[in-house]
Amino acid sequence: MKDWFYDESNHVGVDYSQKESADVYDEQMDFRDYAGEVKAFLEKTGISEPENLIAADLGCGTGAFAIHAAKYFKKVYAADVSEEMQRIARAKAEADGINNIDFVQSGFLQFLPDEKVDVVNSKWALHHIPDYWKQAALLKMNAMLKPGGILFLADFVFQFDPDFEENTDTMLTDLLKEHDEDFVEECKTHIKEEYSTFDWILRGMIERAGFSIESVEQDDNLADEYLCRKIKSFE
Ligand SMILES: C[S@@+](CC[C@H](N)C(=O)[O-])C[C@H]1O[C@@H](n2cnc3c(N)ncnc32)[C@H](O)[C@@H]1O
Repeated sequence: MKDWFYDESNHVGVDYSQKESADVYDEQMDFRDYAGEVKAFLEKTGISEPENLIAADLGCGTGAFAIHAAKYFKKVYAADVSEEMQRIARAKAEADGINNIDFVQSGFLQFLPDEKVDVVNSKWALHHIPDYWKQAALLKMNAMLKPGGILFLADFVFQFDPDFEENTDTMLTDLLKEHDEDFVEECKTHIKEEYSTFDWILRGMIERAGFSIESVEQDDNLADEYLCRKIKSFE
């Protein structure tokens, strides 16, 4: 590896390489309906015969997507830099008798499956690397996808104009109306230490990485979902 290359084992913000952080994350996510998320994913992407397709989940965490996606897709590659997050995901797969997930301890910038995939999913993970490297990660996603393949990218993205100070205060005040103080403190750590970017920057990076953005879903706070299709190859 070149000596100027980004070190993905160096966690920013929440350190998911630690057993405790991984366990806490998995417990905190208890409120999510993972099976429902995968069903919604299939509807939003319009995928009708997943049993013939190969998916890759990048920043797979404790298996949010991969475990349920494996029940539909022929095969799922599940990559994450954290061995501890994957430990939990592997245990879930084993408990469910799932054997078509290929778990790989690897990051956005290194992971390249042995075969081209039809779909890349990544949820709430890309903000762990800086923008320069997000662009590199998006090019890697392009490289692993078949022509016309789907990228479904969900992440925390700032939707407001670059008047960041006032808008950040407003956003935090709004969040406090719906969530407890712990949640808002976590958001502050996210803003201070992690690498969420502006929606308009991410859109530019996605397009420069050879994708067309087919639709974008935004919630009132930070979360965006980009449904994209590979329209250009760089090989
Ligand atoms: C907030 S969790 C999201 C996990 C999962 N996608 C979900 O929906 O619950 C962020 C994940 O990104 C992983 N991560 C951080 N940096 C990464 C990198 N450079 N490449 C791949 N995964 C990374 C962390 O280890 C963690 O598992």
